[in-house]
Amino acid sequence: MNLTIVGTGYVGLVTGAAFAYLGHDVVCLDTDEDKIRSLESGKLPIYEPGLDELMRLGKSKLRFTTDYADAIPGANVVFITVGTPLSGDGTPNLSFVAQAAEQIGQEMGDGYLLIVNKSTVPIGSGNWVESIVRDSFESKNGRRLNGTCAVASNPEFLKEGSALADSFYPDRIVVGSKNSRAVALLSDLYRPIVNQDFAPPPFLPRPEGLGAVPLVTTDIASAELIKYAANAFLTVKISFINEISVLAAKVGADITELSRGIGLDCRIGSRFLQAGIGWGGSCFAKDTAALVATGQEYGIRLPIVDAARQVNCHQRELVIDKLLEELKILKGRTIGLLGVAFKPNTDDLRDAPAIDIAKRLSIRGAKVLAHDPVALPRARKEVTDVPIHFKDTAAEVFDDADAVVLATDWEEYRTLPFGQLISKMATPVLLDGRNYLDRERLTAMGYRYCGVGR
Ligand code: UDX
Repeated sequence: MNLTIVGTGYVGLVTGAAFAYLGHDVVCLDTDEDKIRSLESGKLPIYEPGLDELMRLGKSKLRFTTDYADAIPGANVVFITVGTPLSGDGTPNLSFVAQAAEQIGQEMGDGYLLIVNKSTVPIGSGNWVESIVRDSFESKNGRRLNGTCAVASNPEFLKEGSALADSFYPDRIVVGSKNSRAVALLSDLYRPIVNQDFAPPPFLPRPEGLGAVPLVTTDIASAELIKYAANAFLTVKISFINEISVLAAKVGADITELSRGIGLDCRIGSRFLQAGIGWGGSCFAKDTAALVATGQEYGIRLPIVDAARQVNCHQRELVIDKLLEELKILKGRTIGLLGVAFKPNTDDLRDAPAIDIAKRLSIRGAKVLAHDPVALPRARKEVTDVPIHFKDTAAEVFDDADAVVLATDWEEYRTLPFGQLISKMATPVLLDGRNYLDRERLTAMGYRYCGVGR
């Protein structure tokens, strides 16, 4: 099939590269010329493990353009994967989606065209996109569309850092449309993934025992809501364990033991029960805010989702409380941060807890040193409103530090030479914001180890 992907962020690039690998002809379109130029020269604008390799494998089937007139006319399916950032009132900013729909309408012909919303968009956006496309076609051509254009919702559930595995070996695929041709087209497109009968990329073997992947076909509104509800549920799960972690610390229990103890109940499940400084990233804050805003539109309160957001905010403030408890005064103190990205295996800094914590510390007069194994170049460029001293090596954040906070659970932080690093610190306070390090070993080395909820 001929596929066009509009928007070359995480979702667009991963989706495009995966379909090219599966043998489709894919055009990735972005209006950012610099981005397209660098993609053409083989340079990726984001860090995602394996993506460069996958793009190399699909190279002959993948091309890039900034021009809708080049990308739309020959396409069978157009995926909209543009950003929907949060606007001031908690609703997602849909201007990029509107622009994409408008341009698609301008350049499409009369033949059948399936437009797929992969961007996370509010309930009802499917109809809205279709009406923009139709109006735009009519204004360009002076007549109504003769052929058929259908809009389907096909939300993505990719996690940054494991986006490739999530694309090839997903838990489920959701397709929202009542148009039978649209459902048939998308079922065809996803068949190799549903049946798991494609040859896996050499660096990404199929998980053992993986059977057929469920394909959930439903109406557009349900598909749109599935995406929001899934993300909201995950935030509730994390915030729940974080809420309990505060109580666990008070009563002398250990939250990591508790997570294991409840997670083994298969009705609960052990994933997303890792207590710590809370969730961040491009989706969770934005999508929970959008869900609450949608509820308000319909006069409905969503107190559980609201509470998950509040608990998450509180987790970040708890870091400050803990440091105050240990150090008494933060003014003039030096605090080192291990990790800046919102989670490991990505350089994404959107809503990163580390940056929020750095801001709270600097407001209280502390000097913040920070390191990240991958996100440093991006952080140096993008974090301009918080005074953080970025360091090239993890060891440098220990220099004269009154405390070091582990904010991102990067694998390489587990094996730092903590025994030597302690001598560089002014006071050996180590706040493990992800309960990731070896508490017993660090305590034996002389650190004042503090975890979250233990
Ligand atoms: C999320 C959803 O998981 C994905 O399905 C959706 O498509 C996009 O949003 P992502 O934002 O990439 O993916 O990261 P995820 O792995 O979900 O982690 C989000 C945040 O939660 C991170 O800051 C992570 O550190 C935190 N987290 C995760 C916890 O604090 N505890 C956990 O147990 C799990």
